[in-house]
Amino acid sequence: MGKFNIFLLAGLFFFTSAQPNLKAKNNFEDGGPYKTPKSVKSINVNKAAVSCGHPLAAKVGLEIIKQGGNAIDASIAVQMALAVVYPRAGNIGGGGFLVYRSGDGKLVNTLDFRERAASGASRDMYLDEKGNVVAERSQRGALASGVPGTVDGCYQMFLKYSKLKNWKKLIQPAVNLAYNGFTITEAEAKRLNDARASFVKFSTVDKTALIKGEKEVWKEGDVLIQKDLAYVLKDIRDKNVEGFYGGKTAGLIVAEMKRGKGLITLADLKNYKSVWRKPTLGTYRGYGIIGMPPPSSGGVGLMQMLTLSEKFLLKDKPFHSAEAVHFIVEAERRVFADRATHFGDGDFYKVPMRGLLDKNYIIGRFSDFDANRATPSKLVKAGELAQVSEQTTHISIVDAQGDAASITTTLNDNYGCRTIVGGAGFILNNEMDDFSAKPGVPNLYGAIGGEANAIQPLKRPLSSMSPTIVTKDGKLFMVVGTPGGTTIMTSVFQVITNVIDYNMSATEATQAPRFHSQWMPDVVMIEKGGLPELTIAALKQKGHAFVERGTIGLVETILVKSNGTLEAVADKRSDDDVEGY
Ligand code: GLY
Repeated sequence: MGKFNIFLLAGLFFFTSAQPNLKAKNNFEDGGPYKTPKSVKSINVNKAAVSCGHPLAAKVGLEIIKQGGNAIDASIAVQMALAVVYPRAGNIGGGGFLVYRSGDGKLVNTLDFRERAASGASRDMYLDEKGNVVAERSQRGALASGVPGTVDGCYQMFLKYSKLKNWKKLIQPAVNLAYNGFTITEAEAKRLNDARASFVKFSTVDKTALIKGEKEVWKEGDVLIQKDLAYVLKDIRDKNVEGFYGGKTAGLIVAEMKRGKGLITLADLKNYKSVWRKPTLGTYRGYGIIGMPPPSSGGVGLMQMLTLSEKFLLKDKPFHSAEAVHFIVEAERRVFADRATHFGDGDFYKVPMRGLLDKNYIIGRFSDFDANRATPSKLVKAGELAQVSEQTTHISIVDAQGDAASITTTLNDNYGCRTIVGGAGFILNNEMDDFSAKPGVPNLYGAIGGEANAIQPLKRPLSSMSPTIVTKDGKLFMVVGTPGGTTIMTSVFQVITNVIDYNMSATEATQAPRFHSQWMPDVVMIEKGGLPELTIAALKQKGHAFVERGTIGLVETILVKSNGTLEAVADKRSDDDVEGY
């Protein structure tokens, strides 16, 4: 018997006793390695749908729903599976936000499981002796990591809303995927190879967990096995939060911190708490919008853009015309100027929510709008209020009862801070870079922050993540969200308005080219070939400057159609996939 077969048998033996009953096309009892199928981008189904960053995670989610799980059960299982099959952003070493709505609309809630600064963090921790920001310190290595929130977040969701009430069943597929391995896609192979040198540089012990071999690079179809991660997941399965924030795993994280000069202590881990927060609610042309409050700027930013779009009739401006794009860019410019000044963790800084969401205030921000000229960003400041990774990944789920979960979760940059926790096989986030290391100095995404987002112990860094649920006539209409750092809220905005204002299907709305502007730098970023030549020429005449960049966002959308069926869409721009029935 070859080494490989012995391994398969051992794997099967190891997990037989605790296997969940997941009988599917890709059976998570079969000992793996699991073959990653080609992703499907769009489906129409009657009952339930899952859209997320990886085909195997989408399958896990659907299986949980078919076993009677609700959107929360499926979200937990998908989040844990993504931590294995989508290591660039899926995580247990990061954090995220949940926006949840029950099928009958009686429950609407959000959970903030964003990372927190360690108790030893300080305002100037990323500055050198001359007071200049040293970007590498907030972006790479153990010092860049905030205290992870994902495992606590998943467990709090489970305690409050799970229907299956079987935590082990939700975690088991991830254990199996990590232990038995799965075949990697071409895109993942490329990304892992690109990050190779930084894994070696920024991991103190576990330098090779995500490296193919000393002389070998990853290619499509190779099997990635993550044994250390499987044992951590097994501890989480058996001991829930204690399996991560205490015991062996916590010890391994703290040991990595000591070796890598990071700050997270055992007490920081033990004291981590995710927080249920009141959603940011608004309306747009008769649709209800449910968004994430601070420490996300996404819910408020999205509402500001939608308020301007309603007032200034985006619907009458032809899709991707110079008139429409000019309007949207000018709206984004003002929204991001507000973001830089007024946003931070609401537990530490009084974010002037009422003022920022006040329709008169938002519309007043457009008093200097010129239909013929771009307003230079240096002339646009945050509004005066009366008082008041870019990588990330998104999960959209609707279950058979119509409950909806919209979760955006992140390590911040691709593969976070590139530090693999020694002996634990998972990557830590570099969310500390989302703080303003020095007011006025841009972060990884070129975003500028101010006093409101300065570093403080136990504070959460400002986020753009915008998991969103849209309702119509009191019923579920759309579940949407995306990764993409600062481009997140503008991508979510474009997909929502593509559907509501331009009558696109969810597929057309999600796959349409996107553009983004964020006040500073004063440019419009566009996907290659993303806007008609004529539009660009007309916008240059108005004074806009353009930069072509790679793709913008990976949006996962589920739309409830007028006949009650679901159109579920995964972004065509990467491995994202949908499942449903
Ligand atoms: N790390 C990206 C965000 O939270 O906006």
